[in-house]
Amino acid sequence: MLELMRIDPFDSREVNLWWDIYAAAERADRGAGTAVWTRDESRHELQHDTATIDRRAYLARIDGEVVAGGRLALPMRDNLRVAMLGVHVAPELRRRGIGTAVLTALEEEARSAGRSILKANASWPCSAGDDGSGVPGREFARRHGYALALGDVQSRLPLPVAAAHLDALGAEASARSQDYSLRSWIGSVPQVLIGGWAELDAAVDTEAPVGDLEIERATVDTSEIRRSETLIAQQNRRSFGTVACDRGGRVVAFTQLVVSGDDGNAYQWGTLVRREARGNRLGMAWPSRSRICGCCWRTPLTCAPCTRTTPASTSTCCRSTAAWASRPPNSWPSCRSGWPERRTRRTAHSSVQITGVSRELRFWTDIRLLN
Ligand SMILES: CC(C)(COP(=O)(O)OP(=O)(O)OC[C@H]1O[C@@H](n2cnc3c(N)ncnc32)[C@H](O)[C@@H]1OP(=O)(O)O)[C@@H](O)C(=O)NCCC(=O)NCCS
Repeated sequence: MLELMRIDPFDSREVNLWWDIYAAAERADRGAGTAVWTRDESRHELQHDTATIDRRAYLARIDGEVVAGGRLALPMRDNLRVAMLGVHVAPELRRRGIGTAVLTALEEEARSAGRSILKANASWPCSAGDDGSGVPGREFARRHGYALALGDVQSRLPLPVAAAHLDALGAEASARSQDYSLRSWIGSVPQVLIGGWAELDAAVDTEAPVGDLEIERATVDTSEIRRSETLIAQQNRRSFGTVACDRGGRVVAFTQLVVSGDDGNAYQWGTLVRREARGNRLGMAWPSRSRICGCCWRTPLTCAPCTRTTPASTSTCCRSTAAWASRPPNSWPSCRSGWPERRTRRTAHSSVQITGVSRELRFWTDIRLLN
């Protein structure tokens, strides 16, 4: 008989058991070298005190043995109908109905929390094909009535990139973006910029292509930005921020790059150019700017941001799910991806082309509506 128990995020033993299953399950399907959040990064996220999202993690046991893990994330301020679910089954125990039992229990939790839109992610190496046929997570989702709503591609960029290439990109960008000034920093967002930063950060989820997802615009909250900076510090990560301001001093674009101090993986988080400021190569201006940040790190790393867009163009709107693969930092972001038109309501127009970017993983968000 399977028992599902919510873990205490401050109980190291429980968190370790949960993380071991999560990492093993992700690596089994994405490849041993895939980037997963480290144990401590995950622990701090679970412990993080925030009013915007209720994060829960679970362990499933059969006869006392841990066989699977689960996650539930419930937005608490906007998108109140939504629940994000995650199921991770030990690779050697699959196809025995364990995933189904965990999913059913999580769906019940979501329902009793008043949620009616269930979201889950499946991911696989791009080399395994475009549509996820035969991929455990995708087949499992399909079997349980989840439908594709949005696709992401995570790309990878080995670093460092040749300085001459970045300089050429930077020169082209600055020729086109004379009306804007760029400002970069490491660590907390400067107080004078926090309002503009928070506005753009709240807009990313709805400004990026949303596919078939119905997403409400997030609430603008500067104190939440500060709380997230506390979490970043607790996770031994380092944040590199850049904004572009127009001549009136208004923040019209931002990007955030977060580098793990644990394993050197980096994540490109929110990146957005306001609609009225697009077409000025502000997206292209990031790489040259990020070089300045990269100089603060001693070792080279590999990077791979996540994007959602059409095959023909590249998005300046990157979501926060991007992970970069192993090896420590000295980094630059780029955006490149492809996605069928049907799933893309908006396309962006910047075309960042950094030599060496390769497609790594596909992430699909599947949804199911509860009656
Ligand atoms: C996806 C996952 C949770 C499935 O766990 P599981 O215990 O093997 O799932 P179940 O045994 O309950 O499978 C239920 C059904 O899903 C489908 N399915 C699951 N894995 C499949 C696979 N590798 N190929 C084809 N169909 C599959 C089948 O229809 C299966 O029924 P069947 O075995 O009677 O044919 C597990 O593979 C995993 O942890 N993957 C990594 C994380 C992930 O992708 N999670 C899902 C998104 S939240």
